[in-house]
Amino acid sequence: MRRSLVLGNWKQNTTKSTALELLTDLSKELNDNPTKTELGVIPPALVVQMAVEQCQNSAFEVGVQNVSSTNAGAFTGEVGADMVASMGAKYALVGHSERREYFKESADDLANKIVRCLEHDLLPVYCIGEQLEVRQSGDYLAFIKNQLEEVFSQLQPEQITNLVIAYEPVWAIGTGETASAEQAQEVHAMIRQLVHAKIGTDNITILYGGSCKPSNAKELFSQPDIDGGLIGGASLNAKDFVAIANSF
Ligand code: PGA
Repeated sequence: MRRSLVLGNWKQNTTKSTALELLTDLSKELNDNPTKTELGVIPPALVVQMAVEQCQNSAFEVGVQNVSSTNAGAFTGEVGADMVASMGAKYALVGHSERREYFKESADDLANKIVRCLEHDLLPVYCIGEQLEVRQSGDYLAFIKNQLEEVFSQLQPEQITNLVIAYEPVWAIGTGETASAEQAQEVHAMIRQLVHAKIGTDNITILYGGSCKPSNAKELFSQPDIDGGLIGGASLNAKDFVAIANSF
Protein backbone atom coordinates (compact mmCIF):
# COMPACT_ATOMS: atom_id res chain seq x y z
CA MET A 1 0.00 0.00 0.00
CA ARG A 2 1.35 3.43 -0.94
CA ARG A 3 1.33 6.05 1.82
CA SER A 4 3.45 8.76 3.47
CA LEU A 5 5.82 7.18 5.97
CA VAL A 6 8.80 8.38 8.00
CA LEU A 7 10.92 5.94 10.00
CA GLY A 8 13.72 6.78 12.43
CA ASN A 9 16.63 4.31 12.50
CA TRP A 10 18.43 4.82 15.82
CA LYS A 11 21.14 2.28 14.92
CA GLN A 12 23.35 1.25 17.88
CA ASN A 13 22.57 4.39 19.87
CA THR A 14 20.92 5.06 23.27
CA THR A 15 20.94 3.30 26.63
CA LYS A 16 17.90 2.64 28.81
CA SER A 17 17.87 6.18 30.19
CA THR A 18 18.67 8.07 26.98
CA ALA A 19 16.16 5.96 25.03
CA LEU A 20 13.45 6.85 27.54
CA GLU A 21 14.42 10.50 27.29
CA LEU A 22 14.23 10.44 23.49
CA LEU A 23 10.87 8.62 23.49
CA THR A 24 9.47 11.12 26.00
CA ASP A 25 10.75 14.05 23.92
CA LEU A 26 9.17 12.49 20.85
CA SER A 27 5.75 12.14 22.51
CA LYS A 28 5.92 15.78 23.69
CA GLU A 29 6.99 16.97 20.26
CA LEU A 30 4.17 15.06 18.56
CA ASN A 31 1.71 16.57 21.03
CA ASP A 32 2.89 20.08 20.15
CA ASN A 33 3.27 19.42 16.41
CA PRO A 34 0.92 16.61 15.45
CA THR A 35 1.64 14.91 12.15
CA LYS A 36 -0.62 13.22 9.63
CA THR A 37 2.31 11.14 8.42
CA GLU A 38 2.68 7.54 9.56
CA LEU A 39 5.70 7.66 11.87
CA GLY A 40 7.83 4.86 13.27
CA VAL A 41 10.88 4.60 15.52
CA ILE A 42 13.35 1.79 14.91
CA PRO A 43 15.39 1.62 18.15
CA PRO A 44 17.80 -1.11 19.28
CA ALA A 45 15.84 -4.34 19.91
CA LEU A 46 16.30 -4.04 23.70
CA VAL A 47 14.36 -0.78 23.65
CA VAL A 48 11.40 -2.12 21.67
CA GLN A 49 9.30 -2.98 24.71
CA MET A 50 9.84 0.46 26.24
CA ALA A 51 9.05 2.12 22.91
CA VAL A 52 5.87 0.09 22.45
CA GLU A 53 4.72 1.11 25.96
CA GLN A 54 5.48 4.77 25.21
CA CYS A 55 3.68 4.69 21.88
CA GLN A 56 0.39 3.49 23.43
CA ASN A 57 -0.50 7.14 23.98
CA SER A 58 1.42 8.67 21.14
CA ALA A 59 1.22 8.86 17.40
CA PHE A 60 4.09 6.58 16.45
CA GLU A 61 4.77 2.92 15.82
CA VAL A 62 7.83 0.80 16.54
CA GLY A 63 10.12 -1.44 14.51
CA VAL A 64 13.42 -3.30 14.68
CA GLN A 65 16.64 -2.93 12.73
CA ASN A 66 17.05 -6.62 11.92
CA VAL A 67 15.39 -10.01 12.38
CA SER A 68 16.64 -13.57 12.14
CA SER A 69 16.29 -15.32 8.79
CA THR A 70 15.15 -18.49 10.60
CA ASN A 71 12.22 -19.65 12.67
CA ALA A 72 12.68 -20.36 16.40
CA GLY A 73 15.47 -22.75 17.32
CA ALA A 74 19.07 -23.10 18.41
CA PHE A 75 20.40 -19.84 16.95
CA THR A 76 22.21 -18.15 19.82
CA GLY A 77 21.96 -14.39 19.80
CA GLU A 78 19.25 -14.12 17.17
CA VAL A 79 15.92 -12.29 17.51
CA GLY A 80 13.03 -13.82 15.57
CA ALA A 81 10.25 -12.04 13.70
CA ASP A 82 7.71 -13.86 15.90
CA MET A 83 9.34 -12.40 19.03
CA VAL A 84 9.37 -8.91 17.59
CA ALA A 85 5.74 -9.13 16.51
CA SER A 86 4.72 -10.47 19.94
CA MET A 87 6.17 -7.31 21.52
CA GLY A 88 3.81 -5.18 19.46
CA ALA A 89 6.29 -3.88 16.88
CA LYS A 90 5.15 -3.20 13.33
CA TYR A 91 8.22 -2.85 11.07
CA ALA A 92 11.57 -4.54 10.48
CA LEU A 93 14.45 -3.20 8.43
CA VAL A 94 15.92 -5.82 6.11
CA GLY A 95 19.29 -5.44 4.38
CA HIS A 96 20.36 -2.05 5.69
CA SER A 97 23.69 -1.24 3.99
CA GLU A 98 25.52 -1.40 7.34
CA ARG A 99 24.28 -4.97 7.83
CA ARG A 100 25.17 -5.90 4.26
CA GLU A 101 28.67 -4.48 4.71
CA TYR A 102 29.61 -5.43 8.29
CA PHE A 103 27.58 -8.62 8.71
CA LYS A 104 27.84 -9.89 5.13
CA GLU A 105 24.12 -10.54 4.73
CA SER A 106 23.45 -12.36 1.47
CA ALA A 107 20.47 -12.06 -0.87
CA ASP A 108 19.22 -15.47 0.33
CA ASP A 109 19.40 -14.30 3.98
CA LEU A 110 17.48 -11.16 3.07
CA ALA A 111 14.75 -12.98 1.14
CA ASN A 112 14.35 -15.35 4.12
CA LYS A 113 14.16 -12.42 6.53
CA ILE A 114 11.42 -10.84 4.41
CA VAL A 115 9.45 -14.09 4.42
CA ARG A 116 9.85 -14.45 8.23
CA CYS A 117 8.56 -10.89 8.69
CA LEU A 118 5.53 -11.43 6.48
CA GLU A 119 4.70 -14.70 8.25
CA HIS A 120 4.37 -12.74 11.47
CA ASP A 121 2.67 -9.60 10.13
CA LEU A 122 5.75 -7.43 10.43
CA LEU A 123 6.17 -4.94 7.61
CA PRO A 124 9.58 -5.53 6.01
CA VAL A 125 11.45 -2.42 4.89
CA TYR A 126 13.88 -3.69 2.26
CA CYS A 127 16.89 -1.37 2.04
CA ILE A 128 18.93 -0.97 -1.13
CA GLY A 129 21.48 1.50 -2.45
CA GLU A 130 24.79 1.82 -4.22
CA GLN A 131 28.26 2.64 -2.89
CA LEU A 132 30.13 5.73 -4.07
CA GLU A 133 32.27 3.81 -6.57
CA VAL A 134 29.16 2.33 -8.18
CA ARG A 135 27.55 5.78 -8.44
CA GLN A 136 30.72 7.18 -9.99
CA SER A 137 30.99 4.30 -12.46
CA GLY A 138 27.57 5.25 -13.83
CA ASP A 139 26.21 1.71 -13.34
CA TYR A 140 24.06 2.50 -10.30
CA LEU A 141 20.67 1.79 -11.89
CA ALA A 142 21.76 -1.72 -12.92
CA PHE A 143 23.24 -2.28 -9.45
CA ILE A 144 20.00 -1.29 -7.70
CA LYS A 145 17.93 -3.32 -10.14
CA ASN A 146 20.03 -6.33 -9.23
CA GLN A 147 19.51 -5.75 -5.48
CA LEU A 148 15.78 -5.81 -6.14
CA GLU A 149 15.81 -8.76 -8.52
CA GLU A 150 17.87 -10.99 -6.23
CA VAL A 151 15.16 -10.95 -3.58
CA PHE A 152 12.13 -10.50 -5.86
CA SER A 153 13.12 -13.70 -7.64
CA GLN A 154 12.60 -15.55 -4.33
CA LEU A 155 9.26 -13.94 -3.44
CA GLN A 156 5.67 -14.37 -4.57
CA PRO A 157 3.92 -11.32 -6.09
CA GLU A 158 1.70 -10.90 -3.00
CA GLN A 159 4.82 -10.85 -0.82
CA ILE A 160 6.35 -8.12 -2.98
CA THR A 161 3.12 -6.07 -2.70
CA ASN A 162 3.60 -6.05 1.07
CA LEU A 163 7.11 -4.61 1.05
CA VAL A 164 8.25 -1.10 1.82
CA ILE A 165 11.40 -0.29 -0.15
CA ALA A 166 14.01 2.18 1.15
CA TYR A 167 16.50 3.60 -1.35
CA GLU A 168 19.57 4.68 0.59
CA PRO A 169 22.65 5.58 -1.45
CA VAL A 170 25.53 4.41 0.75
CA TRP A 171 27.54 7.54 -0.06
CA ALA A 172 24.79 9.67 1.51
CA ILE A 173 24.37 7.69 4.75
CA GLY A 174 25.77 9.52 7.76
CA THR A 175 27.97 11.65 5.52
CA GLY A 176 25.95 14.85 5.50
CA GLU A 177 25.89 14.55 1.70
CA THR A 178 22.30 14.03 0.55
CA ALA A 179 21.33 12.80 -2.89
CA SER A 180 19.74 15.69 -4.77
CA ALA A 181 15.99 15.46 -5.22
CA GLU A 182 16.59 14.70 -8.93
CA GLN A 183 19.11 11.93 -8.18
CA ALA A 184 16.74 10.32 -5.67
CA GLN A 185 13.69 10.70 -7.92
CA GLU A 186 15.50 9.05 -10.86
CA VAL A 187 16.14 5.92 -8.78
CA HIS A 188 12.70 5.90 -7.14
CA ALA A 189 11.00 6.10 -10.54
CA MET A 190 13.09 3.17 -11.78
CA ILE A 191 12.20 1.13 -8.67
CA ARG A 192 8.50 1.86 -9.13
CA GLN A 193 8.63 0.84 -12.80
CA LEU A 194 10.45 -2.34 -11.95
CA VAL A 195 7.91 -3.27 -9.28
CA HIS A 196 5.11 -2.55 -11.76
CA ALA A 197 6.72 -4.75 -14.40
CA LYS A 198 7.12 -7.51 -11.84
CA ILE A 199 3.74 -7.57 -10.11
CA GLY A 200 1.44 -5.41 -12.22
CA THR A 201 1.00 -2.67 -9.62
CA ASP A 202 3.25 0.08 -8.35
CA ASN A 203 1.11 0.81 -5.33
CA ILE A 204 3.97 0.38 -2.86
CA THR A 205 5.76 2.76 -0.50
CA ILE A 206 9.29 3.81 -1.46
CA LEU A 207 11.36 5.76 1.09
CA TYR A 208 14.54 7.79 0.62
CA GLY A 209 17.33 7.58 3.20
CA GLY A 210 20.73 9.24 3.51
CA SER A 211 21.38 12.47 5.43
CA CYS A 212 17.73 13.45 5.22
CA LYS A 213 17.08 16.41 7.55
CA PRO A 214 14.51 19.17 8.11
CA SER A 215 16.31 21.44 5.61
CA ASN A 216 16.07 19.00 2.66
CA ALA A 217 13.08 16.78 3.48
CA LYS A 218 10.46 18.99 1.81
CA GLU A 219 12.22 18.99 -1.55
CA LEU A 220 12.83 15.25 -1.43
CA PHE A 221 9.27 14.39 -0.34
CA SER A 222 7.76 16.59 -3.06
CA GLN A 223 9.18 14.28 -5.75
CA PRO A 224 6.48 12.18 -7.44
CA ASP A 225 7.96 8.81 -6.48
CA ILE A 226 9.32 9.57 -3.00
CA ASP A 227 6.83 8.58 -0.30
CA GLY A 228 8.88 9.48 2.77
CA GLY A 229 12.15 8.82 4.54
CA LEU A 230 14.29 6.43 6.52
CA ILE A 231 16.07 8.80 8.86
CA GLY A 232 19.26 7.99 10.78
CA GLY A 233 21.12 10.78 12.58
CA ALA A 234 18.25 13.28 12.53
CA SER A 235 15.89 10.78 14.19
CA LEU A 236 17.95 11.05 17.40
CA ASN A 237 16.58 14.55 17.84
CA ALA A 238 12.80 14.59 18.44
CA LYS A 239 12.31 18.12 17.06
CA ASP A 240 14.18 17.38 13.83
CA PHE A 241 12.46 14.02 13.40
CA VAL A 242 8.95 15.46 13.78
CA ALA A 243 9.90 18.41 11.54
CA ILE A 244 10.87 15.88 8.85
CA ALA A 245 7.57 14.05 9.30
CA ASN A 246 5.79 17.37 8.81
CA SER A 247 7.65 18.13 5.58
CA PHE A 248 5.04 16.72 3.18
P1 PGA B 1 21.46 9.01 8.03
O1 PGA B 1 21.18 7.45 8.05
O2 PGA B 1 20.13 9.72 7.99
O3 PGA B 1 22.22 9.29 9.32
O4 PGA B 1 22.28 9.32 6.83
C1 PGA B 1 20.15 6.87 7.28
C2 PGA B 1 20.13 5.37 7.48
O5 PGA B 1 21.20 4.77 7.60
O6 PGA B 1 19.05 4.74 7.53
